[in-house]
Amino acid sequence: MSDIKDRALSSAGREKIDWAGSFMPVLAKVRDRFQKERPLHGIRIGACLHITTETANLAIAIKAGGGEISLCASNPLSTKDDVAASLVVDFEIPVYAVEGEDRDLYYRHIYQVLDTKPHITIDDGADLVSTVHTQRTELIPEIIGGTEETTTGVIRLRALARSGELAYPIIAVNDSQTKYLFDNRYGTGQSTIDGILRATNLLLAGTVVVVAGYGWCGRGIAMRAEGMGAEVIVTETNPVRALEARMDGHRVMSMMDAAKVGEVFVTATGDVGVIRAEHIDVMRDGAILCNAGHFDVEIDKSVFAGRAVKRRRLREMVEEFEFMDGRRIRLLSEGRLVNLSCAEGHPPSVMDMSFANQALASEYLVKKRGELERKVYSIPEEMDVEIARMKLETLGISIDELTEEQKKYLSSWELGT
Ligand code: NAI
Repeated sequence: MSDIKDRALSSAGREKIDWAGSFMPVLAKVRDRFQKERPLHGIRIGACLHITTETANLAIAIKAGGGEISLCASNPLSTKDDVAASLVVDFEIPVYAVEGEDRDLYYRHIYQVLDTKPHITIDDGADLVSTVHTQRTELIPEIIGGTEETTTGVIRLRALARSGELAYPIIAVNDSQTKYLFDNRYGTGQSTIDGILRATNLLLAGTVVVVAGYGWCGRGIAMRAEGMGAEVIVTETNPVRALEARMDGHRVMSMMDAAKVGEVFVTATGDVGVIRAEHIDVMRDGAILCNAGHFDVEIDKSVFAGRAVKRRRLREMVEEFEFMDGRRIRLLSEGRLVNLSCAEGHPPSVMDMSFANQALASEYLVKKRGELERKVYSIPEEMDVEIARMKLETLGISIDELTEEQKKYLSSWELGT
């Protein structure tokens, strides 16, 4: 019924889950309502998410709503084994995830979650949905819909929908304002820096940090690196985003130019081959490379396997590759999500909103059962705004309300100069 590292880790995991839960008041409100209304009663949910304290709180909320949830990992390195143990032992939630699992075990765990015949799939990166579509199509008739947590997953699912092959409706949780504006920007911004520092114990002040991609994640990383005194260089392919980076005060250049001067490189593009052989060839001795994008494809790791003459582990999450010319390049956590593998991922306070979106999206799918088409939808705007309203309330912040006069003015054209 589960595959985890060690059940004996459960009490440490329980403490951490409770700690995170104390910073997730919006999700707690949803959980309390779910407990009363049981909107997910009898619904089997298969979730492929990072197995962290925040995910644990989402799973607990879903179970409170009557959902029968089982979990597997959305990344081989992001599982917190003590959290997995507590979910199994203390909450009787099946988990199939072990930190450091290889590709075979990663997929075996996905199959085990799919063996529960889920009515709803919750994904972070779309590995669960793509496995359903390629290998487990017999499950499709019973599936009501799915949700997707991250930018890369939404891109994959939109591609699937465009090809006409998407077999059930998907709610793109990443597209909610209360998700990407906060989770991708402030969550990834802070936790990526946290991951780099925990892995290396580097002083960022005075360090040249190259951020590839100035999307929501890249903006956050650049902002926080700058805040710690780094000199930030941004690389982009989108002219508007590049201009925005420049006007935010960062230097902007091509990766080829940045490669020559950067000391720390962070990719956050969701794209493939962003740092390649020609870039690594001109990097300085001691350059540190890491990735905050969803998959470990942004840094071309085949360069290390193919050309390095020496390889050694310097610290738990730091591997050094030495080239023929004597230069040494350091790679953090195998080029996988640095914030989740070297630190704890996003702080609970920000996942509070992302996972309130996930919980409400699951409820919405059940309510709309049979009504939605095989498309990628955003969460209804009123739900998104309601999550922001709840978050403000829990922060003790009140804001103004539009007066009747203002409402009228803002919806009319007659009044001008
Ligand atoms: P986004 O779409 O807002 O931004 C991506 C940016 O990268 C765009 O501005 C695009 O023009 C740029 N880009 C694409 N190819 C590039 C290239 N070759 N060189 C330079 N720039 C390039 O996406 P967002 O939301 O910032 O997500 C980025 C990645 O991070 C995705 O893979 C997403 O799934 C992942 N993600 C990771 C999180 C984490 O916890 N580490 C949290 C949220 C998202």
